[in-house]
Amino acid sequence: MNMQTQYMGFTLETPLIIGASPLADDSQRVGALVEAGAAAVVLHSLFQEQIDGEHFSTVYLREMYADAQPRRDDFIDPTAFHSNPEQYLSHIENLKKMVNVPVIGSLNGSRPGGWIRYAEHIQQAGADALELNLYAFPSDPSISGQDVENQMLDIIRMVTGSVRIPVAVKVSPFLSSLPHFASAVQHAGAAALVLFNRVYQIPEETIMRDSEPAGHQQDSAHLQIRLYWLAVMAQHLNVSLAISGAVNTGTDVFKAVKAGAHAAQVVSAVLRSGPNALRNILREFQQCMLQQHCQSIDDLRRVTRFDQVPDPETCERLRYMRALQHWQQ
Ligand SMILES: Cc1cc2nc3c(=O)[nH]c(=O)nc-3n(C[C@H](O)[C@H](O)[C@H](O)COP(=O)(O)O)c2cc1C
Repeated sequence: MNMQTQYMGFTLETPLIIGASPLADDSQRVGALVEAGAAAVVLHSLFQEQIDGEHFSTVYLREMYADAQPRRDDFIDPTAFHSNPEQYLSHIENLKKMVNVPVIGSLNGSRPGGWIRYAEHIQQAGADALELNLYAFPSDPSISGQDVENQMLDIIRMVTGSVRIPVAVKVSPFLSSLPHFASAVQHAGAAALVLFNRVYQIPEETIMRDSEPAGHQQDSAHLQIRLYWLAVMAQHLNVSLAISGAVNTGTDVFKAVKAGAHAAQVVSAVLRSGPNALRNILREFQQCMLQQHCQSIDDLRRVTRFDQVPDPETCERLRYMRALQHWQQ
């Protein structure tokens, strides 16, 4: 069976990508993941706070968050990052020598700043592509949704304008008009959208007290919102689409490709079960394909008519009304 797919201009041998995480920190582990079926890897992010902190000293980090919660400087302790920016770049160089799949660097920030220059450094280090994660938690009532989106688009334009390698943008589902924003991201030069950025659900008592890391597991119930938006985006956009979040089985990947994904990023399943998770996912994915009489992902995409997805707005209203009306004690 031919599992090749096109993502950001690359021909991937399978639709599986190792999502941004420490999984790519170790070159040998990446080799094992590639052998098990990973067709590309995204490195963990270099964070704005980390890069600008390198330039402006750790005092800057403390000042930046000084009026926030107590003990805030604990959790942006620069020594807590996996690697410093220089180590990150040399890791890309080394990894490129070790594996022959696309290596995707990741930059993570929320405000314009010096960190954006690292897009070029990541390119120079040999990364094949870059993923941009603009995770933010806008909480200032004087800043409108439009302002928030404009700032993100400014950052995307600065990044895409500074590099030749393709840039993917990992987006959040919490925007008022996601298709409008996605289309603006495409016009800002992005080659791919990654749906979605993961929002860590931090228990209430934790928010009040401190900032302990949240749990890492998402089950397939979280898949639904991603499939829904993939189907909507696939109708309107000309960029590559990747799903990220709650992809644990081959059936999940099959549903994602059917909904319009070109690739599926996996993290938690591999953290739990190692490279075998990828083998199992691919085996089940192939079974799903055969049941649909598809010999290739192209076959599957041909039988899925993205332009015939019914009006999602009306469908969602109907589904919502039905759910409320059919409630029984
Ligand atoms: C331990 C861990 C570290 C992660 N680090 C990053 C990161 O540095 N940058 C990023 O964009 N996403 C990061 N993520 C999010 C993942 O890329 C992915 O979006 C998320 O885990 C959902 O996918 P999953 O359900 O397959 O785990 C991380 C996730 C985990 C579990």
